[in-house]
Amino acid sequence: MKEVSLKQLLNTMTIDEKIGQLIQLAPFFFQDSIKGEITGPMRDIGIDVDKIKYVGNVLGIGGAKEKRMIQEDYLAHHPNKIPLLFMGDIIHGYKTIFPIPLALGCSWNKDLVKETARVAAKEASVAGLHVTFSPMVDLVKDPRWGRVMESTGEDPYLNGEFAESMVLGYQSESLDEVGTIAACVKHFAAYGAPEGGRDYNTVDMSKRVLMQYYLPAYQKALDAGAKMVMTSFNSVDGIPATGNRWLLKGILRDSWKFNGVTVSDYGSVVEMVEHRTAENKKDAAKQAFNATLDIEMMSGAYVNHLKTLIENNEVEKAFLDESVYRILSLKNELGLFENPYRFASEEKEKTVHLSKEHRALAKRSAHEASVLLKNDSLLPLNEKQNIVIIGPYSDEHSIMGPWSWQGSETDTISLKQGIEAIIKRPVKTASGTNLKGELTNFDEAITLAKEADVVILALGEPAHYSGEGGSRTNIKLPGKQESLLEAIHQLSKPIVSVLFNGRPLDIKNLNEKSNAILEAWFPGTEGGNALAELLYGYVNPSGRLTMSFPRNVGQVPVYYNHFSTGRPKKNHNYNRYVSHYLDEENSPLYPFGFGLSYTNFEYGTIQASSHVVTEKKGIEVSVEVTNTGKVAGKETVQLYIRDDFASVIRPVKELKGFKQIELNPQEKRTVTFKIKDSMLGFIDQSLNKTVEPGTFKIYVGNHSETSAFIEITYKNKV
Ligand code: GLC
Repeated sequence: MKEVSLKQLLNTMTIDEKIGQLIQLAPFFFQDSIKGEITGPMRDIGIDVDKIKYVGNVLGIGGAKEKRMIQEDYLAHHPNKIPLLFMGDIIHGYKTIFPIPLALGCSWNKDLVKETARVAAKEASVAGLHVTFSPMVDLVKDPRWGRVMESTGEDPYLNGEFAESMVLGYQSESLDEVGTIAACVKHFAAYGAPEGGRDYNTVDMSKRVLMQYYLPAYQKALDAGAKMVMTSFNSVDGIPATGNRWLLKGILRDSWKFNGVTVSDYGSVVEMVEHRTAENKKDAAKQAFNATLDIEMMSGAYVNHLKTLIENNEVEKAFLDESVYRILSLKNELGLFENPYRFASEEKEKTVHLSKEHRALAKRSAHEASVLLKNDSLLPLNEKQNIVIIGPYSDEHSIMGPWSWQGSETDTISLKQGIEAIIKRPVKTASGTNLKGELTNFDEAITLAKEADVVILALGEPAHYSGEGGSRTNIKLPGKQESLLEAIHQLSKPIVSVLFNGRPLDIKNLNEKSNAILEAWFPGTEGGNALAELLYGYVNPSGRLTMSFPRNVGQVPVYYNHFSTGRPKKNHNYNRYVSHYLDEENSPLYPFGFGLSYTNFEYGTIQASSHVVTEKKGIEVSVEVTNTGKVAGKETVQLYIRDDFASVIRPVKELKGFKQIELNPQEKRTVTFKIKDSMLGFIDQSLNKTVEPGTFKIYVGNHSETSAFIEITYKNKV
């Protein structure tokens, strides 16, 4: 529809119709028979049935058939035939489920992540979906928080890179393209920093920290063209994000010039009453609307109070047409006025969902998302060895992780199935204990282990222990798994541990008792096949952690880009009066950027084209990397900087670039990075971007604890 017609349509709409466009409800409000994905507390929303006919947006619903049914029925009754917008959580795949985002991040492969988003969009679009509530780009530092699984980790720069990849994957170059869906970046803002790692808890930080570390990844998603933004449940600088005018209007619209659609999170408008910044739903509606929030998800503030607020001039009336026009424009960009069913097709669902190519991508992404944390040469296994698999994940199909509501366990390959496909003979398994923490065939597991050359321990946490509402104070292996580990370790058999989890766990004990550890996260539909191929060396592990593993939960939050403090612990000499623990190291068990390979990579000395950077002239830094091992492998060369001295505290290291190279044995490659002034900048105390003159350390290595660096100088006056 042409813009002029859209404006004419807007002018013909009644106020009830306009307000209806600002509401999003679950599907059963439209059709009793439809089940939907409920991701928040169901409460009495108090919406009169006669207002349903105006509601313009639907949350979380299944396939093409249901969407066609609802759309058809709705348009038959809608005065202006404005089509419904269907949105849902496609976070790491639709029917073909990929590894969870925290795992995908460990691939450090932007093209791969973009491909997974592209396939997710193809599968979701034939199911009639228009918008996905992804990418989630919340910066995370606390593994007690269950939604770390949904992020890509603890680094602002890397999260921004993956945000861009996902948006481009979902939306391609244009939403006219078949197989695209619109991206909604979330949760704006800083939802990943709840106190105590407890979901929905208070978030409080300075505006400078918010703008320096937490906001850039959202902006990167919008720079990539994301069409929507979802507000977060938490408060930002004392005001709930959903009603925060400084955040939603000041930053998002006025400063970043975002003219897309904003949607609240599930009920977060009325939750301002629980935050105690709104006395009632009417006050909540007023604050959200005046903050320029467009769509209210699953609560009844707008639908029950906005009309009165507007008619009594208690809100900025002009915002109504602006909001409605943004929503109509998105529906128009999706082509819904010409074709309200867009790409929905029951026929295509049969061929597109779980196609061979999609499964192949799911397997490849699980290869690259897995991280080899330890290997004292036990891996790779060989087919002749007599192995057994012990533990709750031995033959478990629930390895898709949270936010995989359209995926099916019957389509998912277990670890046992994957290994049997490789060694072409049955593999004995015994869970020993289940994911409910009950002992099962514990004795049988020990007996089986005694007969084996090598024991594979398939351990982890149940999928519902992470994800939304899944915060834990104890991040060890749950239930009886540590006892199972002790019992197996007593047998003095070689142990390979494979971990299925949605967060970094406290695996200090497992690390001491395993000869090898493969971090599988929740690897998705093709998980078993991918892990088997990694364990048997068909594929060389290349994953690198994007979130630190603590030695124990008492260290949390522990992350690589920390600050020096005035009393840094500098060496191993004991000194009580420095920043340290009496009972634990400061460093994580496994740091950001870490991961092993079946080969070795050696780094030469860092070379620089110059040691002076100016506003006008950058430099190049390079290092030669050699594969000194016996098999080919992929290495992720990482570039970090440290600002030696500045007007505000700066991290001891910050990731500023990375490159992936694949080398055959004895092959060498020179990797080069450009260093320009913008990489050296930060946000100062006046909340302005600045680059201060001074010295910087440039590190190049294979994880964030790398020590090889060169010194450069930035000169702003030459
Ligand atoms: C949930 C989540 C959000 C999700 C939304 C819709 O509460 O916080 O990430 O997109 O509701 O399901």
